[in-house]
Amino acid sequence: MLYKELAKYYDLIYHWKNYKKETNQIKKLISKYKKSDGKKLLEVGCGTGKHLKYLKDSFSCTGTDISGDILNIAKKNVEGVLFKKADMKKLRLNKKFDIILCLFSSIGYVKTYTNLKHTIKNVSRHLTKGGITIIEPWFSKSKFKAGMPGMTTYDGKYLKIARLNISEVKNNLSILNMHYLIAEKNKNIKFFADRHELGLFDTSKTLKIMKDAGFKAKFLKNGLMKDRGIYVGIKV
Ligand SMILES: C[S@@+](CC[C@H](N)C(=O)[O-])C[C@H]1O[C@@H](n2cnc3c(N)ncnc32)[C@H](O)[C@@H]1O
Repeated sequence: MLYKELAKYYDLIYHWKNYKKETNQIKKLISKYKKSDGKKLLEVGCGTGKHLKYLKDSFSCTGTDISGDILNIAKKNVEGVLFKKADMKKLRLNKKFDIILCLFSSIGYVKTYTNLKHTIKNVSRHLTKGGITIIEPWFSKSKFKAGMPGMTTYDGKYLKIARLNISEVKNNLSILNMHYLIAEKNKNIKFFADRHELGLFDTSKTLKIMKDAGFKAKFLKNGLMKDRGIYVGIKV
């Protein structure tokens, strides 16, 4: 179902994530690597806009996501940013940007190498020469462990959430069948299952795809989150 009625719980599930700190790291990468002069920034797979909230004062920001429900939350969270529903695999905004971000493993949702190629070509097409893309990946196949239990909780006074899953791997795909139990004051307990499928992409193959799409690209081991690293590409 990919979020839908769970969209309103997204920010609670990820309450532990320090978007402000991550955004400062992103700003440093932009200052270090961007060669173009402009300040037009696009984030694809922007979710509820939590990075854009800290970027909008420094850049002219647009956020896109495939989920209308998630974008509705983003519009409430952040003012002064243009939000549009768009699938990154088929991105056609008829506009160029200086910075294109794809963070917190949103890229994994394209699932296949064919889609990854389309998406990275789209990113390249939407960047000006000297512009930068920063892509925070999902795990590579060698790093992802099948069969591992995962748990995230939110413990508010009137609302409590437990989200559990056991990871699976099928060929180059990781499957996270998230089971949610949600307890809210004066309501019946709700149960949802939300299946997430993310591609397990090799670092060397991803770098090759970026290079073929017109980027001078590198993978930095120390990214925003532990174990995920980050890709930086400069449009040549
Ligand atoms: C893990 S969330 C990350 C959201 C946000 N970047 C953050 O840091 O919180 C992944 C996001 O990717 C979006 N997404 C999945 N497939 C997509 C696609 N093909 N095009 C655009 N967005 C997509 C989902 O709707 C979701 O909002």
